[in-house]
Amino acid sequence: MAVRIIIGAQWGDEGKGKIVDLLSAETDYVVRYQGGANAGHTLKFDDKTIVLHLIPSGMFNGDSKCIIGNGVVIDPIALVKEIKEVEELVDIDLKERLYISDSAHVILPYHKVLDQVKEKSRGSDAIGTTGRGIGPAYVSKVSRIGIRMGDLLNEEALEEKIRKNLADINNALKHVYGEPELDADNMIKELKSATDSIKGYICNTTQILHEAIEEKKPILLEGAQGSLLDVDHGTYPYVTSSSPTAGGACTGSGVPPLAITHSLGITKAYCTRVGNGPFPTELDDDAGEKLRKNGQEFGATTGRPRRCGWLDLIALKYAVRLNGMNELALTKLDVLDDFKTIKVCTQYELDGKKINHFPSDTEDVERLKPIYKSFPGWESVTRDISSFDDLPENARTYIKFIEEFIGVKFTIVSTGPKRNETIVR
Ligand code: IMP
Repeated sequence: MAVRIIIGAQWGDEGKGKIVDLLSAETDYVVRYQGGANAGHTLKFDDKTIVLHLIPSGMFNGDSKCIIGNGVVIDPIALVKEIKEVEELVDIDLKERLYISDSAHVILPYHKVLDQVKEKSRGSDAIGTTGRGIGPAYVSKVSRIGIRMGDLLNEEALEEKIRKNLADINNALKHVYGEPELDADNMIKELKSATDSIKGYICNTTQILHEAIEEKKPILLEGAQGSLLDVDHGTYPYVTSSSPTAGGACTGSGVPPLAITHSLGITKAYCTRVGNGPFPTELDDDAGEKLRKNGQEFGATTGRPRRCGWLDLIALKYAVRLNGMNELALTKLDVLDDFKTIKVCTQYELDGKKINHFPSDTEDVERLKPIYKSFPGWESVTRDISSFDDLPENARTYIKFIEEFIGVKFTIVSTGPKRNETIVR
């Protein structure tokens, strides 16, 4: 029985959705454990494309049960829209497949407004959030004034909580931010209508998972964002407000640490970042532009162009250590197909000293100068290749160098967005 965590090893957008979709054929449960509709997991199968924000990426390959775990923050209105999109795309009865934790917290319209006005007030120090209310929803959770999915089922108590919370928030909107106040009646009406569509999915998902573990059923725990956006271990404050790293998979699902058998890290063959914050290997030149163009590097949730740069092996090693990754998947190798020279960062220089670790101080990360090793490109198409040995020699050399540097093998190499554009080793 495998209980596998799938974690982004960079700043998100590593292609986790494709890998979860691929592996879900052999699993019984796929569980999202943190984040919310800030994520955008793009899946391509048959001739279809869908971007999932909340629903786990295991819906379309096999018949696994998909769980939105307690660690996720859920915008019920966005979820209703997404359920509709899935039902229009494929013939799946979600009532049989989707389970939503009654302990997951709700993103209310006031969280989104707060996210946006706080960003505006930060000016040039803005984090560059997705504006989906993620930070403020987790603030409500840890302040113990949050509303949980289970609360949606008790209309009277829900209304009282919303009115109480909104009184405080309207006070801040009016007096701190100089913004218009929000109307509780409208909010409650919209929420009730969304609840009517999703109440049948809300249940105790922790118990479902505990039983699945006892029955030795295979489980995939699907992370969103990436290790370097982790609220504790990322480039704080330029992070998301949850824990995409391995510990977050346990708290965000109720799966205990000793049940986990595999930690699979997903990394692109280069790096990207969307939003603000330090990015040591970022390229502001033609190579960066080419990575963006070849890789179609535009945010799946916000459409923002992603910042692009060479693969950073020091940052990758840090992610591997943080998460105990014992397997890796390399994605978007094909994006490098027409590069003459490819670089990877193998060391940093910080204030004139060479260092081999990822600093914990974000201001230090800002000052890092990457030291690169160059590789000749393979300058040929890798998309249709299905065996590692058939990859061009220069591509194999590139991949093997990364494996040796990190000390973990790539069990999967992805050479395109479709399921069949994948090498499984
Ligand atoms: P938030 O999660 O919307 O609060 O945004 C905080 C930071 O995380 C911003 O830099 C976002 O661009 C980044 N971020 C959030 N979700 C994703 C994602 O799914 N992929 C990549 N970056 C993300």
